[in-house]
Amino acid sequence: MENINREKEQAGIAAAQLVKDGMTVGLGTGSTVAYFLDALAARVKREQLNIIGVTTSFKTAARAAALGIEIVDIDDAPTIDLTIDGADEIDVQLNGIKGGGAAFLMEKIVAKNSKRIVWIVDQQKVHLDLGSFPLPVEIVPFGHGKLVAEFAQQQLHPVLRVQAGQPVVTDMGHYIVDLHLKIIDQPYELGRYLDSRVGVVEHGLFLNIADEVIVGRENGTEILT
Ligand code: 5RP
Repeated sequence: MENINREKEQAGIAAAQLVKDGMTVGLGTGSTVAYFLDALAARVKREQLNIIGVTTSFKTAARAAALGIEIVDIDDAPTIDLTIDGADEIDVQLNGIKGGGAAFLMEKIVAKNSKRIVWIVDQQKVHLDLGSFPLPVEIVPFGHGKLVAEFAQQQLHPVLRVQAGQPVVTDMGHYIVDLHLKIIDQPYELGRYLDSRVGVVEHGLFLNIADEVIVGRENGTEILT
């Protein structure tokens, strides 16, 4: 665990170096991004950088504000120059699964509106194929049981995400179902199927979205492009 945190920190620190004065920066969500935010806030203070953040979750917005990073609403940002975000699993083509932190809907919206997207991960998240991390799907609460039953019938092994006996509710007011697939042979086909289901708001397959991945190592980083 100590090693993993060190790797996350290395990736976060390296990503903070990519931010330039005057940029609007998409701020991801998660424990790796927390290291990035700390490193970015330190640079902003030390180098008097003038940057603006667009958040991907309420949690990141609160942390950024506490660190002195100005946040604007995505609709008030004419452009997002660079987004730094984490991921739960990536493959060698830089496709990814996101949503372990339940923020992937906002993360995908920010990503789709960004000029450049860089993910920061620890080494353990890089795999040949996707699927060992359960795929999160964000669904509307109304009729969620029907959708979960349909996913089960399709052999997608759904599990409604629950915390303290209650369904997890995302920042946008939806539930999350995690699909325990073990391996995803055809991610594009699965993505199209999920996109077509009534009641599905978004899924955590991020295909051909990242431009670059910074993989943290104990004593540095490796860049995947
Ligand atoms: C949140 C995400 C996160 O980026 C992902 O879960 C990685 O988190 P961490 O850096 O804590 O491992 O997709 O929705």
